[in-house]
Amino acid sequence: MAASKRNIIVGQSGGPTSVINSSLAGVYKTAKERGFHKVYGMLHGIQGFLDEQYVDLSTQIHSDMDIELLKRTPSAFLGSCRFKLPEIHEDTDTYEKIFQILDKLDIEAFIYIGGNDSMDTIKKLSDYAIIKGHSQKFLGVPKTIDNDLALTDHTPGFGSAAKYIAASTKEVIRDALGLTYNKEMITVIEVMGRNAGWLTGATALARTEECDGPDLIYLPEILFDMEKFEKKVTELLKKKHSIVIAVSEGIKTADGKYVCELSGGADYVDAFGHKQLQGTAAYLAGHLGAVIGCKTRSIEFSTLQRSASHMASRVDVNEAFMVGGAAVKAADEGDSGKMVVIDRVSDDPYMSAAGIYDVHRIANNEKLVPRTWVNKEGNYVTQEFINYIEPLIQGDYQPFMVNGLPQHLVLNKK
Ligand code: F6P
Repeated sequence: MAASKRNIIVGQSGGPTSVINSSLAGVYKTAKERGFHKVYGMLHGIQGFLDEQYVDLSTQIHSDMDIELLKRTPSAFLGSCRFKLPEIHEDTDTYEKIFQILDKLDIEAFIYIGGNDSMDTIKKLSDYAIIKGHSQKFLGVPKTIDNDLALTDHTPGFGSAAKYIAASTKEVIRDALGLTYNKEMITVIEVMGRNAGWLTGATALARTEECDGPDLIYLPEILFDMEKFEKKVTELLKKKHSIVIAVSEGIKTADGKYVCELSGGADYVDAFGHKQLQGTAAYLAGHLGAVIGCKTRSIEFSTLQRSASHMASRVDVNEAFMVGGAAVKAADEGDSGKMVVIDRVSDDPYMSAAGIYDVHRIANNEKLVPRTWVNKEGNYVTQEFINYIEPLIQGDYQPFMVNGLPQHLVLNKK
């Protein structure tokens, strides 16, 4: 039997995904296998931790069946937060408090599952530990549907969101086709991703043997030109009755304004300075309806695209589990201030492996879609883009169905 070790704590942060809990399961299982004594879960990330909100995960996960249920449960099982730690030189009290709690709980390793804003937390805590000579290890586990983390081939959560988006786009296209006999209709679909167009581009996967896919795709990496857009849609309507357009929530006009701000949206700003983006499709559908004078509809996939665990990709669930386990292994072997990454080993057959990078090279960076993966006109993605995503949406991870609905594992606070 492995010698008993000290304790480990894990937290979840930022926008959830449908596989973020698979990473949590990977952390828990690997920590237990490697002989860690207690595995704590911080509630609502570092924000809850500062209020000493945490649970011993052995009071929540009782069997391998619970692990399997956790892997199939969307949203952050432990609760999430969007909380920015102060700069170290600005407020050492916050850091002292964090390290006091870590010492009290005998924490050897701190694992944080999140995106680039969350990696800022790992960066600051590992820096502070070095400055003050604390021995705890700090490791990041990648997570975001946006796929905008640097140095990893892709992020857990992206493949499942892309699968849901592509499948739903196919369904939306079918629905619209059935109702456009001698009648024109424009459907505008809005996809998340803030400044990165990976998810919006995933709508192109809907172009299959029996489906044309969306007609136009607009990513936030390319400035949005309203006049060109209207002209293009008008041209297309001369050829077909149903036009389906995918737009990112983050498309901007040349003057730097988000399109969703044109209708007065985007008022709320989070701790990292990100505006809440929504209403892009509604604005454009309304605008086209007024300019062109035909029926329009807007569809916002909104939180459905990051919580649809019933459409999870098996590749994604398995990779999310793998990176959780790899972070525990890295911390156990002495690494700190690093984030686990996914390396693509081969495309055909698709294979990946876990790697590791300095978190300073990842935190607060955004990996955007390269210009060469968007067509010349800036209104569709290229075959290279599609080839990159296709392996990530493969396979299913069926939910456990109870009375016709997916069953989830939920936190027991008693
Ligand atoms: O960070 C992931 C993400 O899903 C972005 O794509 C989106 O802009 C944002 O979260 C929305 O966050 P919230 O749910 O906090 O409004």
